[in-house]
Amino acid sequence: MCGIVGYIGYSLAVPTVLNCLTALEYRGYDSAGIAYLDGGKLEIVKRVGKLENLSNYLKNKIIPSSCAIGHTRWATHGEPSMENAHPHTDKNKLVAVVHNGIIENYVDLKKALEKKGISFYSETDTEVFAKLFSENLFAKNPELNEYYAKYYAMHNTMHNTYKISKKRIIKALKHTISMCEGAFAVAIVIKGYEDTIFFAKHKSPLILGKCRDAFMLASDIPALLGYADKFYTVGDDELGYIEPEKATVFDLTLKPKKVKFKSVSIEPEQVMLGKFHHFMEKEIAEGADSVLNTLNRLEKTKALEKIPAQIFEGDFNLHITACGTALNAGLIAKYIIENQLRIPVDLDYASEFRYKKPLLSNKSICLFISQSGETADTISCAELAKSMGATLIAMTNVPATRLESICDYLIPTSAGPEIAVASTKAYLAQLSALYDFIVYVAKIRGNALEFDIDSVKNGVIKNNSVNYKLDLTELANLIKDYSSIYFIGRGLDYFLAVESALKLKEVSYIHCEALPAGELKHGSLALIKQDSIVIALLTQSELIEKMLNNIHEINSRGAKIILFSPFVELKQFVYKFISIPKVDDLLAPFSIIKPLQILAYETAIAKKLDPDKPRNLAKSVTVE
Ligand code: AGP
Repeated sequence: MCGIVGYIGYSLAVPTVLNCLTALEYRGYDSAGIAYLDGGKLEIVKRVGKLENLSNYLKNKIIPSSCAIGHTRWATHGEPSMENAHPHTDKNKLVAVVHNGIIENYVDLKKALEKKGISFYSETDTEVFAKLFSENLFAKNPELNEYYAKYYAMHNTMHNTYKISKKRIIKALKHTISMCEGAFAVAIVIKGYEDTIFFAKHKSPLILGKCRDAFMLASDIPALLGYADKFYTVGDDELGYIEPEKATVFDLTLKPKKVKFKSVSIEPEQVMLGKFHHFMEKEIAEGADSVLNTLNRLEKTKALEKIPAQIFEGDFNLHITACGTALNAGLIAKYIIENQLRIPVDLDYASEFRYKKPLLSNKSICLFISQSGETADTISCAELAKSMGATLIAMTNVPATRLESICDYLIPTSAGPEIAVASTKAYLAQLSALYDFIVYVAKIRGNALEFDIDSVKNGVIKNNSVNYKLDLTELANLIKDYSSIYFIGRGLDYFLAVESALKLKEVSYIHCEALPAGELKHGSLALIKQDSIVIALLTQSELIEKMLNNIHEINSRGAKIILFSPFVELKQFVYKFISIPKVDDLLAPFSIIKPLQILAYETAIAKKLDPDKPRNLAKSVTVE
C-alpha cells in the first residue's frame, strides 16, 4: 500500500504535504514524490528511497504554491525507481496523479492506450490511470489535448475559451474509474486548475480533512492531525474535488452527496514520537493502556452487547480470519474458545481462506480481525463470507474502515493510531477484545470461565511495572548476528511463540521459526546444533514437566536456551532466564508478550535497523 496527501488552501502547500507524508511513511517508503501547481506550471519532484530524500531536496526551496499532492510508495508494480515513483502524468504533462491501491486490469488498459500511439515511461498501473484519464478528459476533442499543450507551452496558462468545466472533468474521472478494476484512491491536479484537487475512491482508504483555511485529503486521519480538525471518510465509488473553502462529492451517478465532516478523538501527540526514539518503542510502552482503553470502551459503549445474543445461542460455526499478527491474535482466541467454551473454531489465513471453498452458511459467524481494517486479503474474505450468507463481525482499530463497512457488527479496539509497521499495542488490544468477546459469549451460553476481565486488566498492570530493558538489550546483542532463531512452546505458549517469531523476524531480518516444543524431535531438532539459539516460552503450569524434557533435549545438543517464564526454579536449566510476572495460565499473553516485543525492538536497534519501517513491508497491505 502507499500513502497519498493533498492540500488546497491559502498557505504553502509543499511543506504541508511533506509534513503529512511523514505521518504516512509507514504505509510505504520505497520512493516519494510531490506535484504542485505554481504560476501556471505543473511541477513534479520525485526521489527514490525514504521521504527524507525528497524533503532534503525541497527544504531550502520557497515554493509559493498552495495546491499540491504527494505520495509515499510501497512498490506493487515496478521496482523503486525515479520512473516508477509517483506522481504520474499524461503525455502532455497537463495532469498529475498519485494513487494508493492496485489497478488489476492495467495491462489491458495500457495495451489499448498503446494502440492509440501513447507511450509509457514507467512500469506502473498509476501511469496508465493518468494517461487514461487524460484521454477521457479530451475524448470529445482529442485535438484539444494537443492545443492545450501548445497553448500552454506558449502562454503558460489555460486558454479560458477552451477551459474544460469541472463538471466535465468529473465526468471524465467517473468514466476513468468505471474502466478500472481493483482498489484505488487517487488524487489529481490539472494544469490551469490551481484552486482544485480532484479525487476518487474505490476500496482503498481516502479521508477529506477540513482545515481553518484549506481542505486536505489523505490515506488516513493521523496524517492530517495538526492541520484538519474535522474529517469525512470518502465512501466507496465516490469522487469529487476539494477547493480552498469547499469539498464537493458525487456518487457514481454524479449525484451530489451531502458531505458531513466529523471531529475525531485522536490527538496530534498520539502520532508524535514524544520522548521515544521510535514508534515501535512508544507503542510497546502503550500496550497496557491499549488493553485498558479497549476494555473500558467496550464496557462503556456496550459494543459487544450490540451483537445480538441469539446468534450465539444453539448451534453455530465460528470462523476467525485475518493476516499476520491479527491472525496470531486469532490463534489465542481459538485456543481459549475451544478450551473454555468447548466450541470448535475454524481459523484461516485470509490469503488461504478465500481459495479453500470455505464451508459457510447462514449458521456461520465470521470474525475478521484487522488493525487497519484495510487489508485486501481480509476484506476479500469478508466480501465472500457476506455473499455466502454468514454473519460478519469486524474487529478493527482504525475507525470508519472498509472492513467495518462490509461487516454486520463491530468490535472496536482502542489502541490509538499504530504507526510502526510491526504491530505491538494493537495485538494486545485485539487479545483483550477477544477475551472480552469470550466473556460475552460465555455469559450467553452459561459457561463458567477460568478468568474474568478484571484479571486481564490486572495482568497487564502487573506486567507494566517490570523493567526488562537491561536484560533484553544484553540478549539482543547476543542474538543479533544469528541467521536463524527458533521459538518453542506448548499449548498457549506455542501460539505466543508464533507471534514472537513474526515480531523478531520482521524488524531484525533474522529467520525465525516457531515450533510446538513437542514437535521439535520430529525433524526440526536436526537443525539444532552447538550454540544454536532457542527461545522457549513456558507459562502453562501443567506443561512444565513436558517442557523440561524438551529443554534437556536441546541442552544435550549444545544449544543456548533463553527461557521466558514465571517459574524461576527452571533458571538452573537454561542459558539465560527472563523472569516474567506469574498470572493465571490462560492470561499468559498479557504478561509474556511485552518482553518478547521489546527483544524484537532491541535486536533491530542492535543491528542498526529502522524498527518502524522494515524493508519490503508496509503497515497495511491493501493489495492481495
Ligand atoms: C504485523 O506486525 C505485521 N505488520 C503484519 O503481519 C500485519 O499484522 C498484517 O499485515 C495484518 O494487518 P491488519 O491487522 O491491518 O489487517
